[in-house]
Amino acid sequence: MGKDMRYFIGNWKMFGIPSSIKIINRINQYYLKDKKNNNKYKIVIAPPHTLLESFSNKFKNKSIIISAQNCYEKDFYGAYTGSISPFMIRKVGIKYIIIGHSENRANGETDKILKEKISLAVKNNINIIFCIGENKKHKAKKLTIKVLKKQISKAIINKNFLKKILIAYEPVWSIGSGKTPSTEELTKNVKLLKQFIKKRYKTRKDVKFLYGGSVDSKSIKNFKSIQKLDGFLIGGASKSSKKFIDIIKNFYK
Ligand code: PGA
Repeated sequence: MGKDMRYFIGNWKMFGIPSSIKIINRINQYYLKDKKNNNKYKIVIAPPHTLLESFSNKFKNKSIIISAQNCYEKDFYGAYTGSISPFMIRKVGIKYIIIGHSENRANGETDKILKEKISLAVKNNINIIFCIGENKKHKAKKLTIKVLKKQISKAIINKNFLKKILIAYEPVWSIGSGKTPSTEELTKNVKLLKQFIKKRYKTRKDVKFLYGGSVDSKSIKNFKSIQKLDGFLIGGASKSSKKFIDIIKNFYK
């Protein structure tokens, strides 16, 4: 992961059928033409599990990276109906997994489960997009930084794991709501958390930090100036090639 490399990551959630590949094809065409900027960013798209193998074959050794949206907290095989292990995901050519999305935390994922998922993803040599975020109540009580620090330290238990992790800061109140933190607030939080990680894990290297929550072609303009942000996790707007491309266009305008 290059130092100044930025990431535009699309999280499709429960969306997509085989023909949805056309969305990624269009994004890929834009990327290939964007000679002026395309050495500065990577595109990652996370379709549902049903599409991982076919999409990853299609984009093998190509510019766009295909990511999984989650994995089970046990590895290899087992009697876990409906579950997919990090091993199984890696074996269809996938090298990225989103872990800890607030929608899954709301469905019962605990710090302990996330800790397992992270360790197993690393064991399978998979990069992790690790989501953290405070909810509306935490924010109102000014607990944001405390909550975020806890989410990080409970789930990332080994300093060496940091090499494989991109942290996606996604305030829960911002996801799908059209609301985003102010530029000042976001700059401050990212700075504090980057400092916290350096101290907590005794490392001098900056971990990569993404922002997610209502990122679109308009809101991206407020985030451009935040040097410490290494990219974006995009939900709703990643289901349309035009909306996704417009985010990249406006970021580099
Ligand atoms: P949103 O979702 O861009 O639709 O707010 C972001 C996410 O949930 O990752």
